Amino acid sequence: MGEEQNLHIPLLTPYKMGNFQLSHRVVLAPLSRKRSYGNIPQPHAILCYSQRTTKGGLLIAEATAISDTAIGYPDMPGIWTKDQVEAWKPIVDAVHAKGGIFVCQIWHTGRVSNTGYQPNGQAPISCTDKPLSPSNDGAHYSPPRRLCTEEIPHIINDFRLAAKNAMVAGFDGVEIHGAHGYLIDQFMKDQVNDRTDEYGGSLENRCRFALEVVEAVSKEIGADRVGIRLSPFADYRESGDSNSEALGLYMAESLNKYDILYLHMVEPRMKTQLVKSECSQSLVPMRKAFNNTFIVAGGYEREDGNNAVADSHADLVAYGRMFLANPDLPKRFELNAPLNKYDRSTFYTSDPVVGYTDYPFLDQASSAQV
Ligand SMILES: Cc1cc2nc3c(=O)[nH]c(=O)nc-3n(C[C@H](O)[C@H](O)[C@H](O)COP(=O)(O)O)c2cc1C
Repeated sequence: MGEEQNLHIPLLTPYKMGNFQLSHRVVLAPLSRKRSYGNIPQPHAILCYSQRTTKGGLLIAEATAISDTAIGYPDMPGIWTKDQVEAWKPIVDAVHAKGGIFVCQIWHTGRVSNTGYQPNGQAPISCTDKPLSPSNDGAHYSPPRRLCTEEIPHIINDFRLAAKNAMVAGFDGVEIHGAHGYLIDQFMKDQVNDRTDEYGGSLENRCRFALEVVEAVSKEIGADRVGIRLSPFADYRESGDSNSEALGLYMAESLNKYDILYLHMVEPRMKTQLVKSECSQSLVPMRKAFNNTFIVAGGYEREDGNNAVADSHADLVAYGRMFLANPDLPKRFELNAPLNKYDRSTFYTSDPVVGYTDYPFLDQASSAQV
């Protein structure tokens, strides 16, 4: 991209994120695609990620399970075995070959799982034994088993090992998945967490698990390679909080202590899953409270993304569905070109091409129209 002529497009201005020199601010949001058969990343992911790579662009890989208890859906990638680490390497190499910066989103689903995904058919683990209601998309959740206090360091250790493995696979860093109703979010939110030990009750206690994960992962790979994604306002998977603003602020302030690379927050307007609505609440207080790079996500388009950067409400903007459907999204933003529409029906199908690597690039789209 011609940097000089893009200086009037805030999303396309360079940005220094810690030790990484980014050439623009359009980030690939983490996107699970359920195409990692048997929890092993597949060769078709090489094309999907490299299509979305630009020189100096930041990509966040899809949610990646940290252990055999972390799975809650079929065909999600993992990063706890040697085979999985080896399978990630060519994908990471392809992104690096095109000059991208690539972090791995490390993840534990907690109670968003069932006995069929768990080792020996055991119950999924969580901070609670409260079950999730059956979902309207047909997913079945088993009642979780409440972790006892002494087990919690083992789960933190699994996050640490996953981060270590991500480094072996060649990733530039990790994003700890603390959003969307999964294990870390379950601990943080008072709608879920009903513990009476030091990991439950007060805001400080509920955030302890998340912060201990951050600390362990930072010690392992260096805080300058660690980000975290949070969605304090969302109530996905019955994981809401009675005081989201206080939760978001407490986390933003506490994270400063660890000096991590970035904080990635999902907009309050995405409270109801993937539905953007008007909302008077904002992430600005958390942005102001956090010292390092602040990434926002959730319902952004070209114009409000540019405004977020211009108004300093964010350093970077992550795009999910638009990037899924437009492999050359930064280019399209540069030219203010029309966008491909995403096809929701193929988000999570297992085909290695359809709805995955067959969204046209701008030059293909325009030549197809001629
Ligand atoms: C197909 C699909 C898969 C997703 N997978 C993940 C994921 O693995 N991890 C995560 O934190 N968010 C995930 N999300 C949420 C996106 O990262 C993003 O926050 C959301 O789509 C809202 O942003 P958008 O309006 O730009 O799409 C997913 C969203 C979609 C549509």
